[in-house]
Amino acid sequence: MCGFFGIIYSDERREMGEVLFKAGKRLSYRGYDTSGVGVVDGSGNVEIRKDVGKIEEVAEKHRFAELSGKKGIIQLRWATFGVPSVRNAQPHKDCTGEFLGAHNGNIINTPALRMRLESSGHKLMGENDGEVILHVIEDYYKITGDMVQAIVQGTKDLEGDFACIITKRDEDRMFVVKKGSSLFLGKGDGYYCASSDLASILDHTKQILTLSDGEFVEFGTDYFIVRDLDTGEIIEKNLEEIDLDIGTVEKGSFPHFMLKEIYESPQKAHSLIGLMSGNVVYDEGVDLINASPRVFITGAGTSYHSALLGTYYFSRISGKLLNISFASDFREFYAPVLEDDDLLIAVSQSGETKDVKNVCDVFREKTEGKIISVVNNLGSTIALLSDLVLPIASDIEISVPATKTFVNQAILFLNMAVLSAKKKMLNVPTIPFEKIPWILEKSIEISEEYVDKVIQAVDRFNEFYILGYGLTYPAALEGALKVKEVVYVHAEGMYSGEFKHGPLSIVHQDYPVFFVSTIEDKFFVLSHIQEVKTRLGKVITVAPEDPELEEVSDIFIPLPTDNPYLVPISATIFFQLLAYHLGVNRGIDPDFPKNISKTITVD
Ligand code: M6R
Repeated sequence: MCGFFGIIYSDERREMGEVLFKAGKRLSYRGYDTSGVGVVDGSGNVEIRKDVGKIEEVAEKHRFAELSGKKGIIQLRWATFGVPSVRNAQPHKDCTGEFLGAHNGNIINTPALRMRLESSGHKLMGENDGEVILHVIEDYYKITGDMVQAIVQGTKDLEGDFACIITKRDEDRMFVVKKGSSLFLGKGDGYYCASSDLASILDHTKQILTLSDGEFVEFGTDYFIVRDLDTGEIIEKNLEEIDLDIGTVEKGSFPHFMLKEIYESPQKAHSLIGLMSGNVVYDEGVDLINASPRVFITGAGTSYHSALLGTYYFSRISGKLLNISFASDFREFYAPVLEDDDLLIAVSQSGETKDVKNVCDVFREKTEGKIISVVNNLGSTIALLSDLVLPIASDIEISVPATKTFVNQAILFLNMAVLSAKKKMLNVPTIPFEKIPWILEKSIEISEEYVDKVIQAVDRFNEFYILGYGLTYPAALEGALKVKEVVYVHAEGMYSGEFKHGPLSIVHQDYPVFFVSTIEDKFFVLSHIQEVKTRLGKVITVAPEDPELEEVSDIFIPLPTDNPYLVPISATIFFQLLAYHLGVNRGIDPDFPKNISKTITVD
């Protein structure tokens, strides 16, 4: 959801257009509808080229490749303020043409700022909030004559969560500001670059500075200065060598990132299991959970589903109730009852989801309680505002549908529930953690074997149900979310016991209903299956091998584990692959489903 990258060289570079294009491609996984570049040459001339559409189309149409320059910015925009159009595409200039800039996030008081700016004579080209930033800076520069002061004072007028990049045409420096959205600075060989997203910097360097909220950076070709956004005072910060491989952001031999990332799950699970066994933070997290009288847990989309699975793990294994809600519902549901010794677990792959950040904000407002975040992106806004960060160690996930990160979130919660129970001296069920990578590999293999047969059974339907019971309920919800997201058909995940209370009436000859079951829950599920079978529906069951379940199913997908705690993880792999293949068969690019974005940084 929006993203920018900016770079400054000591001399004019003929490859500027190519460099920006490559960075834009890296940003593209976040989802967007317009693409644009702004380049400043050695004489201070500014050239902006932007349009509606994918980066490849816009770059070709507007010949990015021919752009040379000393400073450059690329921005991909996901429309919020203003329709996707050339005038709303970024980067923007101010009225004087002195300032060039772009942003990520939302300036929520844009309507009021526009009125103020227009009534004082500013000419805005479109409705976009990014453009407003440039005009506000223009005003404060007129008053102060100083970029640092213009930024300190100007950003006080900008409400919302955002990060932005600004440069003055005739200066050999750029500025980036972090106020709620993620921001990184990277040191290349003789140059610096900055971005709202780490993936676009990794092509250049692993020497990274992760900015915290309320900081801004001035950078040139051979220096950077971090300052406090409130006061302008200098903050001492150093670059760090980060341990991320550029291979993570390449597709390699896979046709799509989604498929690559599903296939990476066994290896990422292996890394996480290794990390958790030797790292005290997970231990500290469990101590906090065990010591807190009330624990709340929240997330959005896939992260909500892993959090829900986590609540099942905790209540069943360690007897601890985690109070769960959608991030977007937390304020309404739980905020009125919060107390000072409450604990919050915020689950977010990106660590940037606005709904989850809102929960952290309201939690901070209402209680003295601590926040644990479960994140993949360690430099993210939510990670930075938490008291304790629990990494899921999945490496960057590019594809919009979350896959390998769901798996690692679930493994993390399972491990923590076990640890929590052990610390309470409870009897702990046997979980073969060391076998999980193998189970995931086998899950992929088996799913690929059955997926064509299942596609034949369901492809002519534009709707179906996926039903789970107990531990497999979150897998049913997650399976349905993947199908909706990547296949654009209505799949509904539901508790199988609820199906007879209304939805059953939809079933007719061959209507597909998926069931996900553990062995221990099979007697309930067998009864729910019969309800569908007797109405001639097509029953597709995803479960550990079991003659009775197999007997009543039209198609049976045998999972490679009968451990009830691992069945939901293994079953989710099947639905990820089903969604992937169904989507690709229908000509959909699963990495970039329409209308949505990898990181939802708006309310
Ligand atoms: O980065 P987050 O985990 O906070 O993202 C939350 C959801 O937007 C995300 O999981 C979304 O549901 C996925 N794209 C689904 O595949």
